[in-house]
Amino acid sequence: MILPFSTQGFSIRHLAETGSTNDDILSAIEANEPESLVVVADRQLKGRGRQGRVWVTTPESSLAFSMLIKPNQAETSHLSRFSALAGLAVIEAVEQLAGVKAWLKWPNDVLINSKKICGVLTEAVWEGEALRGLAMGIGINLSPDSVPELPDLIYPASSLESESGVKVVRASMLDAILSQIKNLRAELTTDSFIERCNRLLAFKGETVLIRNNAGEMESFRLLQIDLDGALIVSDAAGVTKRIYSGELSASSSSTASSSSPNSSVSTSS
Ligand code: BTN
Repeated sequence: MILPFSTQGFSIRHLAETGSTNDDILSAIEANEPESLVVVADRQLKGRGRQGRVWVTTPESSLAFSMLIKPNQAETSHLSRFSALAGLAVIEAVEQLAGVKAWLKWPNDVLINSKKICGVLTEAVWEGEALRGLAMGIGINLSPDSVPELPDLIYPASSLESESGVKVVRASMLDAILSQIKNLRAELTTDSFIERCNRLLAFKGETVLIRNNAGEMESFRLLQIDLDGALIVSDAAGVTKRIYSGELSASSSSTASSSSPNSSVSTSS
């Protein structure tokens, strides 16, 4: 079924099935397709999340799409902000369509009531030093069927409908997100963009666990995001630290009023 996606100047390619919409956009970047392309899929056979995890996309109950972005010169100095841009756009769209408060879980998840309802995967294509484009992929659990019932979810997951009681159809959600991305992108390179991220930052002031790149869990107090997108935290001795990558979860003592998504499903591979 072809959904009545509105275009808003985007060129929307709606596929019944694909491997991964991010892969479709990466191929489109290689083929020099223009920035306006958005690929939406009812089902992804190889949907993926961060760190090689599986992302499950169920037709009707989840929204999965990727956008082709060609950052301008100023934006290229702030590439880490694009995942936050997607998260902020989803937060605005969720509030607008479902009337519920959502939060940004650094670096790129959206939470409602401390449960993940959306994940973002941004991948870049480089040619030497030159950036050819970004594939910005967004997956949202709209209704309960979209949340995999598996024991190995890496973060508590839920759906927009379960957390808000509102059924939002995919076309409306895509429409609202694209419109928000257009608006918010205009301030991507400004300090007010980071201020907005900090206002919506989940677990601010709370104790969180962060898995570092060596796989070790460390406990920190979460302070804020700084201008280059790093997470500023303080350790037990009160020493502040900047974290550029890692996996964040709430510690058992945390009482976050916020929440984060289809939590990616961990695979053994
Ligand atoms: C994560 O939480 O780890 C990120 C999940 C990103 C999933 C989206 S769904 C659309 C796009 N296509 C993919 O294969 N992944 C992203």
